[in-house]
Amino acid sequence: MSIDTTLKEIKPGVFFVGSFDPDLRTFDIIMNTANGTSYNSYLVRGSEGDAIIDTVKEKTQDQFFAALEKVTDYDRIRYVVLNHLEPDHSGALPELLRRAPHAKVVVSAKAKAMVKALYNDDLPLETVKGGDKISLGDKTLEFLSTPFLHWPETMMTFMPEQKILFSCDVFGAHYCDERLFNDEVGDFSYAFKYYYDRIMRPYRSYIVSALDTLREVDFDFIAPSHGPMIRSDIAHFVDLYRLWSTPEKKDRMLINVFYVSSYGNTQKLAAQIWRGLSKYDKVLASMYDLEALDFERGIFLLEKSDAFLVGSPTINNDAVKPVWDFLAGMAYLESKGKKAGVFGSFGWSGEAIPMIQDRLKGLKIKMPLEEPFKIKLRPSKQELADALEYGKKFAQACLDGNG
Ligand code: FEO
Repeated sequence: MSIDTTLKEIKPGVFFVGSFDPDLRTFDIIMNTANGTSYNSYLVRGSEGDAIIDTVKEKTQDQFFAALEKVTDYDRIRYVVLNHLEPDHSGALPELLRRAPHAKVVVSAKAKAMVKALYNDDLPLETVKGGDKISLGDKTLEFLSTPFLHWPETMMTFMPEQKILFSCDVFGAHYCDERLFNDEVGDFSYAFKYYYDRIMRPYRSYIVSALDTLREVDFDFIAPSHGPMIRSDIAHFVDLYRLWSTPEKKDRMLINVFYVSSYGNTQKLAAQIWRGLSKYDKVLASMYDLEALDFERGIFLLEKSDAFLVGSPTINNDAVKPVWDFLAGMAYLESKGKKAGVFGSFGWSGEAIPMIQDRLKGLKIKMPLEEPFKIKLRPSKQELADALEYGKKFAQACLDGNG
């Protein structure tokens, strides 16, 4: 794909100087990028100097510098604002600072220690907090505190004169299209949702806080750091973020039982635990065999669960692969406040159960019952009755707010 290097003024005095990476097929290990991506960078030309908002990934920096040299001289650059330090946005910084001798790097206070760790160098830093402003003469940059979207140090930058919100990764999409604007590019709805799911969803309570902050900001243009810029139907995109980030209102506690079974023994326990949970009117319980549960659906169900139980047999001193694959989905959702329990049937030593418990504890998930439910091989009548009781105890502990 050839790269279009014509000048791209997105609003008077504000230029797109980002780079395109159309052939990228995996981003950050965790995302497929069927449409490639862009690393969006912007040059704000002020009457008293210029500012750059975010840079680009190092391997694409030649595009960035070529674009930059069309719109400014390095001597004019006073500020490089890094809304986010991840290398896809800060990769070109070292070379940029070599070329722009008067540039100061503007970051959030939380970013300061991270800059040092990333660059092992003393950079000309200026830290800002939410509400701080920098004047470029006829243009102003205002900083908005929007942490954990999706690193602790992230922030947004607003330019009131042109009503542009430089939103960092928020409202981004891995979707490479040189036509740039949401009303000119192809249909990027899939990429927009997928980006949210993989990058933003684990931080959705922070998204809600950021959206509340943005209620007070009069913007009519969103310039994210990946993918199309949003200049029409903005409310639609903002509303989608709010919808996806707002927890569902439920009149019952949702408790799901996920299991894998080799010989039907762990499945029998799962069914009894599910029956125990279902004794409570205030609980809506369901059970799923992980062997047949699609990964994305598993994440969806985990996200909806107020509490869940995981059952596994032990094979070769380990829990089985569908369980580990399923638990890997926890990386893509906000686990705060969820509760869990573990159960299973085993033949010899039953290592799977403590291993799953350790994994869940490592994710800071609360265990309302201290003891897991485990039995050796085929459950007896008494053990089946005990499993039902365990389900009831688990439900009661969750309803009581234990754990
Ligand atoms: Fe696009 Fe979090 O970097």
